[in-house]
Amino acid sequence: MTSSNKIISAKDFSEDFIWGVATSAPQIEGAYNVDGRGLSTWDVFAKRSGKIKDKSNLNHACNFYYRYKDDLLIAKGLGFKVFRFSISWSRILPDGTGKVNQAGIKFYHNLIDECLQLGLTPYVTLFHWDLPYTLQKEGGWTSHFIVKWFSKFVKLCCKEYGNKVKNWMVINEPMSFTALGYMLGIHAPGKKGLNNFFPAVFNTAMAQAEGGRIIRDIVDNANIGTTFSCSEIKPYTNSELDIAAANKMDILINRLFIEPTLGLGFPNDGFALMDKLNFTTKAWRYIEKMQFDFDFIGVQNYFPITVKHSSIIPIINAMEVKPSKRKVPQNGLGWEINADSFYNIIRKIAAYHNVKNIIVTENGACFNDKIVNGVVNDTERINYFNTHLTALHKLHKEEPKLKGYFAWTLLDNFEWSEGYKARFGLVYVDFITQLRTIKQSGYWWRDFLKK
Ligand code: BGC
Repeated sequence: MTSSNKIISAKDFSEDFIWGVATSAPQIEGAYNVDGRGLSTWDVFAKRSGKIKDKSNLNHACNFYYRYKDDLLIAKGLGFKVFRFSISWSRILPDGTGKVNQAGIKFYHNLIDECLQLGLTPYVTLFHWDLPYTLQKEGGWTSHFIVKWFSKFVKLCCKEYGNKVKNWMVINEPMSFTALGYMLGIHAPGKKGLNNFFPAVFNTAMAQAEGGRIIRDIVDNANIGTTFSCSEIKPYTNSELDIAAANKMDILINRLFIEPTLGLGFPNDGFALMDKLNFTTKAWRYIEKMQFDFDFIGVQNYFPITVKHSSIIPIINAMEVKPSKRKVPQNGLGWEINADSFYNIIRKIAAYHNVKNIIVTENGACFNDKIVNGVVNDTERINYFNTHLTALHKLHKEEPKLKGYFAWTLLDNFEWSEGYKARFGLVYVDFITQLRTIKQSGYWWRDFLKK
């Protein structure tokens, strides 16, 4: 499908379908050490770990801290109705707890006010991976105190912004940051092994539900969600071993966090790793505490994963069969592009009967964008959105729980360990001059959303 045979537009969805564009504080704000902001785990990790591919850091990123008014104008100009952003914990609580930084508080008031003035509904994420560094020194997400620290941060945000912000997401992709940052050591804070992973998983599940309860207590008429990374998992062959491998991967990737959130406890299905998690955290005692009745679940999807059995991979005996090996369509990071899988994974999440509503809170693609004579002709991204929104449209007709879609992301930004080379934005950013250029996919969105 190409951009010229676009078959749908926002008009083909119901009037109240929510169209947004998503961002996160650490990836765009910059201004890492001004106006009293404390350091985050990512500030330190980027500089010390040697694990950022282009050796970059988050110091300036997109300078959104200074440019938010212009950037919001772009989001508005493209026709989005919702702006999703996150609050940098260490900007408002430089040490994670204790002293409140009024300049940081003011920044988010200004940002929210600007959104409201432009008619962009703010959807606020409370934690998008940038933990205050001071708290990491005390154990970060592996410390059981994190639930208390996080609760104080959430209370502060609700009290400050709850009159103006009604839409909240507690945590961004718990599986991604606990697995990458506390098991595999490739994201901040760079910790490895089950001794870090298990407590991080348990504490995150507890903090996520507690965050929901706090918002419900403090904010009148709140619409409360949290977000999960999800991928359709496909066995490489129909062999029993590959199917078992896919099942274990599914437990880890898709079910580990949503099931305790829904009151089902951690998944098990005979997976020894889950027995160990349950045993070490005594999670069965906390089924109720890990549960919260979220108004919506944020589904975030980028790719499916094909899995085969492997006896050399410990614990899960499963390994991914990379898209490059299977010669399937891929994005600039080698991630499989597959709109059918996008459709299937949303259906899978919608099938949990106590999931009330679903918003796709992130979906998008990275390509090797080039700016030529001031134009970024990113046809691959246009095709990506075209096929994915066509799948979304089909689902919209079938699945009443599906309420909205947020594109990832407004601006090219700091893509974690990939640095600045992996571009996901609808807007091209020259990171030397900070010049913004709306990509052709941005204009495609503008036409798609036009009423
Ligand atoms: C994260 C984003 C990230 C995107 C693309 C999601 O997992 O929430 O912060 O940039 O994926 O990798």
